[in-house]
Amino acid sequence: MDDQDSQSEISEAIFLLAHKPNTMNSRREFLKRMSAAALVGGATPSMLTWALSQRPVVEVAGEDGMILRSFRFVDLESPVEYFDTWLTPVPHFFVRNHMHEPSELEASDWRLSLGGEVEKPITLSLAELSEMETHSVVNTLECAGNGRSLHRPQVPGVQWGKGAVGTARFSGPRLRDVLHRAGVKPAGKHVMFRGLDEVPGKVPPFIRSIPIEKALDADTLIATQMNGSPLTKHHGFPARALVPGWIGAASCKWLTEIKVLDAEFVGNFMSPAYRWPNQPVKPGDAVKPEDTHPLTALTVKSVIAGPGDGANLKVGKVAVQGAAWAGEADIVKVEISTDGGATWTAAKLGHDHAPYAWRLWSYDWKPGKAGDFIIQSRATDSQGRTQPATAVWNPSGYLYNAVDQVKIHVS
Ligand code: MTE
Repeated sequence: MDDQDSQSEISEAIFLLAHKPNTMNSRREFLKRMSAAALVGGATPSMLTWALSQRPVVEVAGEDGMILRSFRFVDLESPVEYFDTWLTPVPHFFVRNHMHEPSELEASDWRLSLGGEVEKPITLSLAELSEMETHSVVNTLECAGNGRSLHRPQVPGVQWGKGAVGTARFSGPRLRDVLHRAGVKPAGKHVMFRGLDEVPGKVPPFIRSIPIEKALDADTLIATQMNGSPLTKHHGFPARALVPGWIGAASCKWLTEIKVLDAEFVGNFMSPAYRWPNQPVKPGDAVKPEDTHPLTALTVKSVIAGPGDGANLKVGKVAVQGAAWAGEADIVKVEISTDGGATWTAAKLGHDHAPYAWRLWSYDWKPGKAGDFIIQSRATDSQGRTQPATAVWNPSGYLYNAVDQVKIHVS
């Protein structure tokens, strides 16, 4: 953090705590964050005291052990040890915001407009949306930038570890039912979503589009619920797009406008952001935007949730466990190696499964001797894809999916 950064972090932190406490992770995090910034930027004790006196306690999702990756726009990562339940409890579900969450959002005032290449533009209230048939999809939502910090050479952007991913049951009307109400014209080839984010300064608004085929898929939703409860503000209250199996960026939060377009939406979050090189790139090289295509479905991946990296264990039984997912494909196997990849043994897949949802897995390992070990996990999916030893490097650090590993000591 340089001097200017820390000063702006301090003012931002104080402003947020006073005016938008819901965007704060926790008072404890605030203190931690402020002390770090203060060390570099020179915040005075009176500034800190004043800021903290504004709100005694901030109770929001993210309080419970989440890792704060960015403070300016709330970005919370789940520690991997939370990946031990098929459905991720909402307070343990990662949060990725490109800008400020909407500060005021009354459900009764909210409207969703649908226009563009349609026969009859419509506007729906939350009550009208709730009257439509509801469909549920258990989906593993992963940020395209998950694992970015692990790419070598390193790339700029939020330095996510392994936890910008979670699985939840999303419910709401099918997007296609809403589109059918308005009547999509033959010219309609892409569907654009706009969120109600508060756009700071010159930052371009969060607007993206998906192709009409995915928009009309029976599992693509306008989700209003997550794990059986209304969406929380962090996750897009009152409604968000849910584009199952695709990168998280496709699932626009705080949805306010849907527009049917004759071509892909043109804007920052479609290009240059969230694109993948058409040809392999030499690590460190730049890529021309015209030589890229938009990211869509997630790739195959597994993560070890336990034992934790650096754990000290006793000789005996070691329970190795984690999660594996593959976007629109199914996980068919997860293999474990404890000898540096020389041999691999199949892990047991958990009984809970659904299209688009991760599969928990477990493996009982009995290290015969004391020593240092590397445990690795490698997933294979129904499209025949297997996690590579090294992830494909790309300038924005998307879709990191190398074989996962933890180093442990057995004594
Ligand atoms: N929608 C809006 N309006 N604004 C955003 O910043 N972030 C996107 C997506 N939808 C974003 C958004 C990204 S990059 C991801 S990974 C997911 O939301 C994260 O969803 P979550 O915060 O509910 O976990």
